[in-house]
Amino acid sequence: MTTFTVQRSAGAVSADQRRAILEDPGFGRHFTDHMVSIRYHDQRGWYEPSVVPYGPISLDPATNFIHYGQSIFEGMKAYRHADGHIRTFRPLRNAHRFRSSARRLAMPEMPAELFIESLVQLAAVDGDWVPSDPEKSLYLRPFMFSTEVGLGVKPANEYQYLLIASPAGAYFPRGVAPVSVWLTPDYVRAAVGGTGEAKCAGNYAASLIAQAEASLHGCDQVVWLDAKEHEWVEEMGGMNLFFVFGTGDSARLITPPLTGSLLPGVTRDSILIMAQQDLGIQVSEEPISVDQWKAGCESGEISEVFACGTAAVVTPVGQVKSRVGSWTVAEGGAGPITMQLRDSLLGVQSGRLPDKHAWMFELA
Ligand SMILES: Cc1ncc(COP(=O)(O)O)c(C=O)c1O
Repeated sequence: MTTFTVQRSAGAVSADQRRAILEDPGFGRHFTDHMVSIRYHDQRGWYEPSVVPYGPISLDPATNFIHYGQSIFEGMKAYRHADGHIRTFRPLRNAHRFRSSARRLAMPEMPAELFIESLVQLAAVDGDWVPSDPEKSLYLRPFMFSTEVGLGVKPANEYQYLLIASPAGAYFPRGVAPVSVWLTPDYVRAAVGGTGEAKCAGNYAASLIAQAEASLHGCDQVVWLDAKEHEWVEEMGGMNLFFVFGTGDSARLITPPLTGSLLPGVTRDSILIMAQQDLGIQVSEEPISVDQWKAGCESGEISEVFACGTAAVVTPVGQVKSRVGSWTVAEGGAGPITMQLRDSLLGVQSGRLPDKHAWMFELA
């Protein structure tokens, strides 16, 4: 196992200050006292694994990633369970996705054990930052960028990995609220062969204008369509999408297939498993078009639509606006299958329900 050096922060917040922050942490506003740093050089491999005080980093203006964007990240949550232990959800999936993002961006692939060990190391020093309220969590943000200095366009020979953490409040403090979505006809997130299945910074930079367009249309979120025909539904902002056809015992769950242009969500994969194996709901990965979505809602065949991802877990989609018109999904509220899946998943993550699939990983 890799040995990390630990440099304790002299400026750590007091227990009282931390408690006040954890009362109402919001999202991405506050950061813990420490961060993990690991460096990489072509000649040395991974080196200087360390836990250091959280703080600014200094970069040469010609640092490669600022110009050419070799920058990838992950996102996951740590929960404090009733037994006092800190656990996170399926971190190996994130470790492997981090490796495949790195491969696509011609960056070094961090061994999964080192990735997991970095989470364990941060939990060991900043464990007090994991809220005990089951509605709250500590959001973990591992990321890596190139640090070679110079303006040549080529894969860099040096990289910096950092892991920071930020306490996160309940995503829907006033109850689950359905979102409205805008199906953008003007912008695409990714094309097959591009970087859509990688969690790289550039994908998010390219999404911002479409999100702004969604807001102009009075919608909460943008939904991406395929790059070629602008007809096939891909995903929503930072979440994957599911469609419920039928109701009750005859309900079927459909999600767009991973064609290479969608991010393979950990939540998406978990819902496919949970729905089928635990709840006996038929699931399939099938393309779904804008016209099918509209017609399905108009005929009542589509009874629920929801989005899923680490941040909001499961979010109902209530209203849709697109170039072919506007429509409502069922009554525009949160449907029973959406809420059942949300409750089942949150139950496992927060430790309230049994972890049948051994998805929770103990960090501390
Ligand atoms: C573009 C995009 N799609 C889907 C997801 C959902 O992935 P996960 O369930 O792993 O959080 C995310 C969030 O990471 C995302 O950024």
